[in-house]
Amino acid sequence: MLGLTVIGPVGAAQQAILRYKNLHHPVRGDHGMVVSQREIASEIGARILGLGGNAADAAVASAFALAVALPRAGNIGGGGFAVVWNAQSAKATTLDFRERAPAAATSDMFLNELGEVDQERYRYSHLAVGVPGTVAGLQKLWRDHGSMPWAELVAPSIALAKEGMEVSYDFAQALAARKTRLTRHPYTAQLFYKPDGSLYSAGERFVQADLARTLQKISEQGARGFYRGEVAELIVNEMQRGGGLISLNDLASYRVIERAPVVGSFEDHQIISMPPPSSGGVHVVQMLNVLEQYPLREFGQGSAQTLHVLAETMKRAYADRSVHMGDPDYTDVPVAWLTDKAYGRALAASIDPDRAVPSSDIQPGVALAPESIDTTHLSVMDASGNAVSLTYTLNFSFGGGVSVPGAGFLLNNEMTDFAASAGEPDAFGLVTGDANTVQAGKRPLSAMTPTIVVRDGSVVLVTGSPGGSRIINTVLQMLLNVLTFDNNIAEATHQPRIHHQWQPDRLRVERALSPDTLKILEKLGHTLHVGDTMGSTQTISWDGETFFGAADPRRPGAAAVPAQAPGAGEKTAKDKRKGTFDE
Ligand code: DON
Repeated sequence: MLGLTVIGPVGAAQQAILRYKNLHHPVRGDHGMVVSQREIASEIGARILGLGGNAADAAVASAFALAVALPRAGNIGGGGFAVVWNAQSAKATTLDFRERAPAAATSDMFLNELGEVDQERYRYSHLAVGVPGTVAGLQKLWRDHGSMPWAELVAPSIALAKEGMEVSYDFAQALAARKTRLTRHPYTAQLFYKPDGSLYSAGERFVQADLARTLQKISEQGARGFYRGEVAELIVNEMQRGGGLISLNDLASYRVIERAPVVGSFEDHQIISMPPPSSGGVHVVQMLNVLEQYPLREFGQGSAQTLHVLAETMKRAYADRSVHMGDPDYTDVPVAWLTDKAYGRALAASIDPDRAVPSSDIQPGVALAPESIDTTHLSVMDASGNAVSLTYTLNFSFGGGVSVPGAGFLLNNEMTDFAASAGEPDAFGLVTGDANTVQAGKRPLSAMTPTIVVRDGSVVLVTGSPGGSRIINTVLQMLLNVLTFDNNIAEATHQPRIHHQWQPDRLRVERALSPDTLKILEKLGHTLHVGDTMGSTQTISWDGETFFGAADPRRPGAAAVPAQAPGAGEKTAKDKRKGTFDE
């Protein structure tokens, strides 16, 4: 094991993190932790915890802050999922606030006269916009689990949008890279570029006045301020201008769905994750069931033998995804069978230790999408041990570029996660079938995998990641690195990642893997693609006393609750301060 000492489960790894010999160190905190892709958004959440708010309060505050501070992925015009752990009842639940297809959507809406996929319409048009779920999702998260007044959770984001934020190097670069797409829509151009059309540079101030006004309405009226009235009308106007389908009725009838989590076990840990319409939880549990059959510690972390078994496992899970996965309200998804230990054993038995089995039905010419940085995840834990694991997205970076004139925000292009027709690969090269073709009101299949790991009734790990099709495998490797290889969460985050999605039959690896290992994998029959980084995990671990946070160095930003915060260290409780507003 190359000098790594295996010293037991997560708790023991936590103790080890202060040792000088560790390669990487997480952020440490005693009173709670927020980890997200923007430090300012994490700080806003941590401040809420410091005021005595609980994990749900902080998650709501940080999610609104990301809508301001990380416009390419943080959003109010998109959708997502949250896994919530209530420490008092020791129970988990999930919220599905995924976008839905508008009522007027049809199965052939992305096909041209020849029956071929019109890629432009599928990816970037107003037809690609699904009915947004984020604002309703955050309100339900607050209503069911929060403790502080709603307006106090939205206020920091209103201020950030109004007063502006400093343009980071990363943001300036993202805007430069997407200029052609974003300036196709005059209002989007106005939002993200200077009046003369030039680019913002790092260090300059970026103000979002229209977004501040929209957030103000949400602060005063809750989700109603988004799904009805002026903002809803502005969304529908833009749909009519650009040939989109979303109607006032689609917006008014949007509902968040509370779903039972997918629960699996891995050694002595409970894995709690997102059920369909995300495929993430099911496949992470399925793959862990396969991997449990192997002595991975003996094989060694990062060894060719471990990576071979991982790649073969990924291939099989993604092959199942292509057939069985879709919105469970529209199609039967065999969750119990896919996550059954017996099926995991059967899949393990089909893996040849000495040879990569080629993916059946390889479709030539299907390229993996270039690495995109479009989804975002945040993990929160409060002093009482409550946890929220939340992943949300606009789909592509800045969605398809369509925004809402006057309202200051981008809309998603989530309809692209449907199969334009059964068997046609999506923008991430993922193949899905009839279970995931477009239908009115249906939710497109997702790979987002917000996950919580519980041991002996309390949370030990909260994690999740962006990364399109690569999300599921990114979360899987994070879990293995901590639970099997006993890394502290910073070390686990920093390990190089691999990804196989069955089709195309290519094993994608991050550059950091050793050339010797790559040679062995090639000899075993894997076709390698050495590419850019994958994912950006935002992770918290807890040993019952100390919180550790690790933001992925691939895209950073963690914040701990400062020790001097007035509510620091107080246990949180649902209190009477919360209040309400008219529906
Ligand atoms: O829900 C999904 O699986 C995709 N819409 C996620 C897109 C994504 O993660 C983009 N890349 N970072």
